[in-house]
Amino acid sequence: MILICAWNSAPQSSNNCYSLAPIMKATMKYLVGIAGPSGYGSKTTAEQVTEDCLRSMPRPTPHLTAIVTGATSRIGAETARVLAKSGVRVIIPARDLKKAEEVKENIQKESPKAEIIISKIDLTSFASIQRFCSDFLSLGLPLHIIINNAGKYSHKLEFSEDNIELTFATNYIGHFLLTEMLLEKIMETALETGIEGRIVNVSSVIHSWVNKKDFCFTKLLNPKCYNGTQAYAQSKVANILHAKELSRQLKARKANVTINAVHPGFVKTGITRDYRGFITDSLYFMASKLLKSTSQGAATTCYVALSRMTTGLSGKYFADCNESHSSPLANDEAEAQKLWNQTHALMHRQLLQPLDQCVE
Ligand SMILES: NC(=O)c1ccc[n+]([C@@H]2O[C@H](COP(=O)([O-])OP(=O)(O)OC[C@H]3O[C@@H](n4cnc5c(N)ncnc54)[C@H](OP(=O)(O)O)[C@@H]3O)[C@@H](O)[C@H]2O)c1
Repeated sequence: MILICAWNSAPQSSNNCYSLAPIMKATMKYLVGIAGPSGYGSKTTAEQVTEDCLRSMPRPTPHLTAIVTGATSRIGAETARVLAKSGVRVIIPARDLKKAEEVKENIQKESPKAEIIISKIDLTSFASIQRFCSDFLSLGLPLHIIINNAGKYSHKLEFSEDNIELTFATNYIGHFLLTEMLLEKIMETALETGIEGRIVNVSSVIHSWVNKKDFCFTKLLNPKCYNGTQAYAQSKVANILHAKELSRQLKARKANVTINAVHPGFVKTGITRDYRGFITDSLYFMASKLLKSTSQGAATTCYVALSRMTTGLSGKYFADCNESHSSPLANDEAEAQKLWNQTHALMHRQLLQPLDQCVE
């Protein structure tokens, strides 16, 4: 776990080896919550970041609209709460509308003026994503921020209705299609308002567990031999590669829209509380020193989505509210372009209609 924490901020040497000193330093920095160059660190909460961002926004504060996927639970729910509290209109696409209504009610109990719109989506279904996008576009609202946060970890091999392995379908393919279908809208809003559009892909430091030789598109769609952790890690590499390649394309199109990937940190869960006992309690106590609260887990997303300090930064990877290092595979531009082309071709085949964007 300590090594995982350290990956976030340990400087990378040219031969990809990590000496012990920077790892120890990064681990201490994480545990103590020492601020990085942004002024924030691992202990910063989403509320702190967002309040600071609001204070530094021009007056009158622009009325932003954000789509946050996976907002019916933990990090996504906290991201939606904090954004809505700060006056951002939040669209919650959810597969479970009852859960989404509960999240909305809770947010509005705290912030009665919060503007929340709930809409149905299942990220494992192309048809459902298309329906959501067309419903959203028909509202005629602007779109400033897309937060691709929803996530799935599946122990067993399962397939989506479009016949794609479920973790990859949810975490990467679904968000790729959602982003493609809303890209013109976010670019148009940025052009009309002069406010930089921002897309945030919520990845994980676990992306670094994937080797290049194991990262093969056809096997990701339909693995012959399935390992849940590997599938999750692969989908998280894909989130970063997606940000890298789309960022390159947006720059080539001179669009005022950025896309970045974040590692939220490992967030505390109540799961271990069901297994009481000296050993589990001791392990929980030790782990709780390493794990973040949900609000700390949502901080990096809010920082990248709102901060003036991230203006113009695109195709980057952030952790603990600071720019950080992703793995060599996630940094590989050729791999990013290849994955984008393969995914785009898949969409083209599956949807049987051209997506009118070509690679520069
Ligand atoms: N928690 C961590 O320690 C950690 C660490 C690193 C990275 N991350 C990443 O951070 C993000 C949020 O994590 P979390 O811990 O907050 O996750 P979580 O509590 O498991 O929530 C996942 C969210 O995704 C939604 N979702 C899953 N499948 C979906 C689908 N097919 N269509 C639409 N929505 C779907 C869930 O909706 P339902 O409510 O309907 O299930 C839920 O709202 C994920 O991308 C995760 O990979 C988390």
